[in-house]
Amino acid sequence: MIHPVVVSTAAGDRGLAGLPAPLPLDELVPAAGATTGAGAAEAGEWEVEIGFGKGRYLRRRCQEEPGRRFLGIEVAGEYHGLFVSRVRRLGLGNWLALRGEALYLLSAVLPAGFAAALHVYFPDPWPKSRHHKRRLFDPETVDLVLRLLRRGGRLSFATDFLDYGERVVEILAGYPGLRCERRERPWDEGPRTNYEAKYETEGRPILRLEGELEMDGGEAPLHPQGARAVLAAVGADERDEED
Ligand SMILES: C[S@@+](CC[C@H](N)C(=O)[O-])C[C@H]1O[C@@H](n2cnc3c(N)ncnc32)[C@H](O)[C@@H]1O
Repeated sequence: MIHPVVVSTAAGDRGLAGLPAPLPLDELVPAAGATTGAGAAEAGEWEVEIGFGKGRYLRRRCQEEPGRRFLGIEVAGEYHGLFVSRVRRLGLGNWLALRGEALYLLSAVLPAGFAAALHVYFPDPWPKSRHHKRRLFDPETVDLVLRLLRRGGRLSFATDFLDYGERVVEILAGYPGLRCERRERPWDEGPRTNYEAKYETEGRPILRLEGELEMDGGEAPLHPQGARAVLAAVGADERDEED
């Protein structure tokens, strides 16, 4: 299904028409705070949350850290609208919310290497094997996700779907240039998202991961397990064009 992209900021909502790709994030949400001296490097750094749901974590971070900027991606129009109306009501300006399909936005709309942190909490696990290609973390798509991060950028991930979580551990362990570890305890500040709060109350086991990209996302390579399939698909597209 095609989901039209909506680009929302404190200034209003628009479609992609008339906006260049990759999106000019610094123009859409200018950095606030120091631009010279101590703290300049961190001023206005971007953090991204993919599949933010009702937006509990993203909204809290926007409120608590006005010097940073937050970009959220959510395919469900209802949740996107909920987040946007809440942060506007709070008068916050340090956010950009994209309504759209994450893998499309990552591959065609967002720049590489701009984010200091990336958050993915309880992504849809797509348990049936014929649907694995829709997963955010798959050997054929993981480079698209990690390419958002700058050198030294941090990944935080959580899932209650332990089979998928173990597969993500395996995929990330095999990704060149990413250091990744399981986090054996909850986040210091408590549950971050609605799903996490619900599952913690129910006592469900949760697998959490933290990682750091040791290169700029602009240089993110294909995953060794996914490269052959990705390159075969590129070859097939080129052959179609020749026919
Ligand atoms: C299980 S919910 C988790 C929501 C939130 N992260 C939390 O922990 O409470 C998964 C969320 O990801 C969103 N989502 C699923 N597939 C997506 C996609 N391809 N692109 C963007 N968002 C997606 C869903 O609409 C949903 O809000």
